[in-house]
Amino acid sequence: MSQQKAVWLKAKQGSFEVGPAPIPKPGEGEVLIKVHSTALNPVDWKIQAWGFLIDNYPAILGGDAAGIVEEVGPGVVNLKKGDRVLTNGVKGNEHATFQQYTLGYADVTAKIPENLSFDQAATIPLGMATAATGFFNADAPSSSVGLFPAWEDGGRGKYAGEPIVVIGGASSVGQYVIQLAKLAGFGPIITTASLRNTESLKGLGATHVLDRNLSKDALIAEVAKIASAPVKVVWDTVSEAETQNVGYAIVASGGTLVIVLNDAVQNKTADKRIVQTLGNTNIPQNRKVGASLYSKLPALLEGGTIKPNPVEVLPNGLEGIIAGLNKLKQGVSYVKLVAHPQDTA
Ligand SMILES: NC(=O)c1ccc[n+]([C@@H]2O[C@H](COP(=O)([O-])OP(=O)(O)OC[C@H]3O[C@@H](n4cnc5c(N)ncnc54)[C@H](OP(=O)(O)O)[C@@H]3O)[C@@H](O)[C@H]2O)c1
Repeated sequence: MSQQKAVWLKAKQGSFEVGPAPIPKPGEGEVLIKVHSTALNPVDWKIQAWGFLIDNYPAILGGDAAGIVEEVGPGVVNLKKGDRVLTNGVKGNEHATFQQYTLGYADVTAKIPENLSFDQAATIPLGMATAATGFFNADAPSSSVGLFPAWEDGGRGKYAGEPIVVIGGASSVGQYVIQLAKLAGFGPIITTASLRNTESLKGLGATHVLDRNLSKDALIAEVAKIASAPVKVVWDTVSEAETQNVGYAIVASGGTLVIVLNDAVQNKTADKRIVQTLGNTNIPQNRKVGASLYSKLPALLEGGTIKPNPVEVLPNGLEGIIAGLNKLKQGVSYVKLVAHPQDTA
């Protein structure tokens, strides 16, 4: 079998269409994965709507895959045919995940423990890549706070007693930021969300959940009441102009604001750093920390230290992704949309 099906973005800002694509061949250090579940991310609809990030069309998108290793390329020692795995896809073509077969780089592909379904596993790679590399990559000072990785020896609890604010804790990225903050020892972990998500977010490690509709002044005042030490790290997983500016006001002198979209902060001062995440474990500047994370991910998932996002499964295989991207554009709450490429008609 040499052909499969994929969701093609036909042209820049063109339409999505399910059509045939060649099954890629794994090269040195790569594995071929039969994709059972792929998750949708906001960037996938933004690429179509805004025409950015990709130059060559037609293109296959998708950054989250969970499935079974079909074939192992030369030099791969950590994975074998038949393994259940998850990986962070690369938008473009052969490594993208909105298709029935994708390639993964073996060093940043992890085995899925038995306690997780493919759907749950598919919610992890891109959101976790964003949270992990945004926190813990000392090699990338413009896109990371540069802290010591929480999953490495000596990392657990290292930042005990340091408060953190996570704007948008119910987002996919926010859920992983909260869990990594907990692993790293941060406390209190203060987050903003719709209050219906309070108990769920406390289950992930948030200590205080504040209403996302609080005014800027009210939010700053609430954080000041809760945090007894200066807030040196603020994560803005929403990164609208309004939330970025609140986040910047909250972060203490000498601290870092982490944003996930382009910088919209006004009235900057020299004493506060802003870093913009590059949420992908495959890219050169994130690869080392990505491989470190992937080596520990199975144990973190198996022990429940890291929990996947809640899942909503889309119908109709790859076709379902096209409608799903519209749904994601309208906005979801505390859930990741997941599709089953093998169920394509
Ligand atoms: N540059 C990168 O590396 C990178 C990587 C990944 C994602 N991103 C970007 O990061 C953003 C988040 O992505 P995602 O996949 O995590 O999104 P998502 O899961 O689709 O986000 C939905 C959540 O956002 C929350 N939210 C929206 N507006 C909010 C506000 N004003 N205050 C507090 N919470 C708010 C909602 O919380 P409630 O349900 O509680 O209302 C909802 O649960 C997107 O813009 C995405 O494009 C960037």
